[in-house]
Amino acid sequence: MFLEGKKIVVMGVANNKSIAWGAAKAMKAQGATLIYTYQNERMEKQVAKLADDKDLLIECDVTSDESLRRAFATIEARAGKIDGLVHAIAYSKKEELGGNVSDISRDGYALAQDVSAYSLLAVAKVAKPLLNKGAGVVTLSYMGSVRAIPNYNVMGIAKAALESAMRYLAAEFGKIGVHVNAISAGAIKTLAVSGVSGYKELIKESDNRTADGVGVTIDEVGETAAFLVSPFASGIVGDVIYVDKGVHLT
Ligand SMILES: NC(=O)c1ccc[n+]([C@@H]2O[C@H](COP(=O)([O-])OP(=O)(O)OC[C@H]3O[C@@H](n4cnc5c(N)ncnc54)[C@H](O)[C@@H]3O)[C@@H](O)[C@H]2O)c1
Repeated sequence: MFLEGKKIVVMGVANNKSIAWGAAKAMKAQGATLIYTYQNERMEKQVAKLADDKDLLIECDVTSDESLRRAFATIEARAGKIDGLVHAIAYSKKEELGGNVSDISRDGYALAQDVSAYSLLAVAKVAKPLLNKGAGVVTLSYMGSVRAIPNYNVMGIAKAALESAMRYLAAEFGKIGVHVNAISAGAIKTLAVSGVSGYKELIKESDNRTADGVGVTIDEVGETAAFLVSPFASGIVGDVIYVDKGVHLT
């Protein structure tokens, strides 16, 4: 088990359909001890249903510096140093995930960037002193960062920023022996994706474009996340790894 004895922070489990839950299952199967952060009390109930008794559950709203500070101070007090972190967080107002990009509002743009891109840096700031040498950080992106996917709009722009933020962070964290990367996952039906207008079409199209016609699963994405946080991935720095069963090839 390649994560035996490792403590990993998992941010973004909303329910058992979440990509973060796929990552949590894979990391647990490799012996990791998990520390979940959840956005609010409603999410806490969902995570509590999934977590083991010994896992830590800590509130963290990434739009609040105070919440971030408190969450990572609690992690340090209760778990000490950590060996990895999975950032699987994004949000946009539903009205920005459809229609014309030229109609995106200033507020909607700022909110999507704040939660979906800046949050990686905000998390990195508070997590940095806790990360052990050899630790890995992974964030979740989507192909809409590099292609104009219908209706993905403001989130595609945020994912482009996220991937860039990830590369700059990888250059910084490389100096402290922490490797940072992103997974670009294929389309999967989750709470977040259901905000995109016509998301059923998006998923159908994505499934059809996979090499074997079957959509990627949260387990497949999660297994890659488990590898990427591990020391086996120490040579992979600042990369976007596609885990979409070949959708990006066509
Ligand atoms: N589902 C897909 O098709 C797909 C594809 C590629 C990438 N992704 C990315 O994967 C990541 C996880 O999304 P998912 O699809 O598993 O959906 P999800 O809805 O299960 O997870 C999104 C998570 O973001 C959290 N979040 C939102 N605002 C937050 C805030 N202010 N503070 C803290 N947490 C907050 C939510 O609580 C939730 O747990 C996202 O970055 C998403 O863009 C998803």
